[in-house]
Amino acid sequence: EQVTLSLGQIEKGGYPHFMIKEIMDQPACMMDCMRGRINVEASNIVLSAIIDNKDKLLSARRFIIVACGTSWHAGLIGKHLIESFCRIPVEVEYASEFRYRNPVVSEDDVVIAISQSGETADTLAAVELAKQKGAFIYGICNAIGASIPRATHTGSYIHVGPEIGVASTKAFTGQVAVLTMLALTLAREKGTIDEDTFRTVLKEFSRIPEQMQQVLALNDKIAELSKIFTYAHNFIYLGRGYSYPVALEGALKLKEISYIHAEGYPAAEMKHGPIALIDAEMPVVVLATKNRLYEKVLSNVQEIKARKGRVIALITEGDTVMPGIADFCIELPDLPECLTPLISTLPLQLLAYHIAVCKGLDVDQPRNLAKSVTVE
Ligand code: G6P
Repeated sequence: EQVTLSLGQIEKGGYPHFMIKEIMDQPACMMDCMRGRINVEASNIVLSAIIDNKDKLLSARRFIIVACGTSWHAGLIGKHLIESFCRIPVEVEYASEFRYRNPVVSEDDVVIAISQSGETADTLAAVELAKQKGAFIYGICNAIGASIPRATHTGSYIHVGPEIGVASTKAFTGQVAVLTMLALTLAREKGTIDEDTFRTVLKEFSRIPEQMQQVLALNDKIAELSKIFTYAHNFIYLGRGYSYPVALEGALKLKEISYIHAEGYPAAEMKHGPIALIDAEMPVVVLATKNRLYEKVLSNVQEIKARKGRVIALITEGDTVMPGIADFCIELPDLPECLTPLISTLPLQLLAYHIAVCKGLDVDQPRNLAKSVTVE
């Protein structure tokens, strides 16, 4: 029997859209991103940018991360990683705000510019400005040889391959993976991480591709779930700590391709406003994996249920409490907290994707959006 595929279908690897192909490619992309950089047996990470610029990076007084959109969300996770492992203060700035604020930047600062395309006008301008002020610039980009990697002093490519879908997916996890390797490497050089933690996190990190595969196997379940929420007008996404930027990213994906208004919030801020929005019409996605703050997030979920909100909870496998409270649960593998964003983002990408498909929208080319914003 003959199977006929058009050129477009071949490019999409048999998937109907680039976005779903790129979501599904993430385990392979992670391996490409880690290849040649991590060695679990030797318990070692090699990022050539760090080897070549050790003094500059180790003597940094502060890191400033500049980025836009999804890359900015990756930057927020980078802040957590670098501050907790390296004990260096990190600021995360929207490139568009940073460049027009006459920011205080000095030669002791290292600026990390994160950009999938390497061509975003605001991020490029932020890099140029920080360079003029004497900062050392480290790029985290995907497109090889693009303007931002050319303008930086050093950097690490994420190596996830070309991203075609306008809504960024595999680039986000690639950026977070590079930031994880960067934070762990610097922490070891600075002596701010103990060997046991380094080993454990590195070992678990090396298993992320398998864990991603396990989560992507939930695709059909998430597609079913999407049917229930296709016609929602609003969504709230809640998370704390490492999961707060994931909540922001989940909400952004939904806005971008499903055109549903969505807000990401730190879970504890709910009582300062968003709780007023909750009623039976309001789906709330809660990142509720097991960690130090689990009990607090659990009580947020109880507050939402008391107001008849519908809760979709992302939980750690084996959690028997949340399934009794939330309307729907998506189980994720148990991982060190710092690695959960690499996994918990995937169901949120799939949810946004399937809702957009249910609505019959152009997933790969959403209205009003551009893949790369090269003008202001
Ligand atoms: C556009 C894209 C987003 C992306 C943002 C930053 O808005 O639609 O997906 O996150 O630009 O792009 P960059 O290439 O700098 O990461």
